[in-house]
Amino acid sequence: MRKPEVIAVCGGQWGDEGKGKIIDYLAQEADVVIRAQGGDNAGHTVVNPFGKFGLHLIPAGIFNPFTENIIGAGVALNPKSLMEEMENLSQHGVPLDNLKISPKAHLVFDYHEELDKLQEQLKGNGKIGTTGRGIGPCYMDKAERVGLRAELLTGDPYILLDEMSKALKSKRDALVGRNLAAAVDSYLESEYGGGPGFISNEDIGRMVVVSADLIPDSFHAEYYEELILNAHRLLAPIITDTDEIVHQRLNKNSRILIEGAHGTLLDLDHGTYPMVTSSSPTVAGLLLGSGIPPKYLTRSIGVFKAYQTRVGAGGMPTELKDAQGELIRQKGHEFGTTTGRPRRVGYFDTLAWEYAMKMNGFSEIALTRLDILSGVGDLKICYEYEHKGEILESFPTDSRILGECSARYLENDKKEGWDEDISGVRRFEDLPLNAQNYIGSTIAKPKFVGVGEKREDLIIIK
Ligand code: GDP
Ligand code: IMO
Ligand code: MG
Repeated sequence: MRKPEVIAVCGGQWGDEGKGKIIDYLAQEADVVIRAQGGDNAGHTVVNPFGKFGLHLIPAGIFNPFTENIIGAGVALNPKSLMEEMENLSQHGVPLDNLKISPKAHLVFDYHEELDKLQEQLKGNGKIGTTGRGIGPCYMDKAERVGLRAELLTGDPYILLDEMSKALKSKRDALVGRNLAAAVDSYLESEYGGGPGFISNEDIGRMVVVSADLIPDSFHAEYYEELILNAHRLLAPIITDTDEIVHQRLNKNSRILIEGAHGTLLDLDHGTYPMVTSSSPTVAGLLLGSGIPPKYLTRSIGVFKAYQTRVGAGGMPTELKDAQGELIRQKGHEFGTTTGRPRRVGYFDTLAWEYAMKMNGFSEIALTRLDILSGVGDLKICYEYEHKGEILESFPTDSRILGECSARYLENDKKEGWDEDISGVRRFEDLPLNAQNYIGSTIAKPKFVGVGEKREDLIIIK
């Protein structure tokens, strides 16, 4: 008898490994795809018979009309972005009847984005380089237990506005306090060179008024009335008991894919903290965010690029700042799907790979974008780091140490490149020998090798 199959698809590096493409491929035979965590900070590109799409919140199984696509409980859901994404897909003829939203997903609004940007500003040199999508502040509200969940969109929209109004009051107070503190600092600086000085109650009163005037409109609930009414109309009908859908499917022995966003090294607990995102993109996090009990997990696919990229701040010992790095960036169009920022490019790092394997226990590997390495010259693979004169053979979990590490390459770590166009190759043995050797040196034999952006540009190794 067929058993339920639950497959987690998880980023193995710092995101943008090609998860979207792998999900789009596997979803051709999936009953359900659930996006488990993160929000529209993710950008998952798929290229299939419908066209080319940069998905942010909608699971990449949406193109198969027989697959139910669920935005899961662990997701930070921006209703404005979701409605735009739905509109764009509809305009391209993609049916959306198969899209559902968990009532437990937390809502992201413009004020979360404002707070995200403000927090980054306050961090100065220590900034993370977030996508500015308000994801961190939304998860902060969730943890503080003051978040607004999708279920609120299903009732009277004015109740949601009322709840939002209460939440925004304390945020405005905090902002006024922060602006006031900054105003007092700058007053003392200008009058007394920053030393102790005197400010009258009248001065403070004036500063409070100025400070309150600096609060953006998006910190007032009225700003959201139209959005909430639209979201109530368009999204409420698809907010439903998705746990029930999933558990019925599990009983029917269906195939369920869990779509991860971001990557292992951006995981809030296990990534390169604090230069991470605010959710858990490791396999355990995917189970949590999707609400699927761990006992059902049958496969977990770690998606890795054949080289490496990172967007935002934080250590990356194999980063290439030379002409070859630029060549790979240009050839691979390594610019963020969400923010358009240039991605930092580096050689494949086996220390990071081993760490991701350790934390996730992947049952299979997908190695993507091998085709991008055709014609970029000889390559290197990193097997050890140097840190203050010492050799490290495992990935440091302290990001301060990671930031001080440099990749150390020995003669054996150099791999000869290849020039052939491999995008039409469908069998491992038809790859140029140097490409086969390169794969052999990166990681244990992968199950999937990506050789192009299109759905069918994939080698499947039996
Ligand atoms: P995700 O966030 O992990 O889904 O990855 P992104 O979509 O942000 O970035 C991966 C990019 O690589 C996208 O433009 C994909 O279309 C593309 N892609 C995925 N796999 C391959 C591959 O094997 N070869 C090439 N050339 N492009 C790929
Ligand atoms: P996908 O799903 C690459 C990075 C940001 C930043 C850090 C925190 O497309 O692989 P955030 O906005 O999440 O608070 O930013 O995480 N980041 C990603 N980098 N791909 C992603 O998603 C990312 N999601 C977040 O660049 O360094
Ligand atoms: Mg991406």
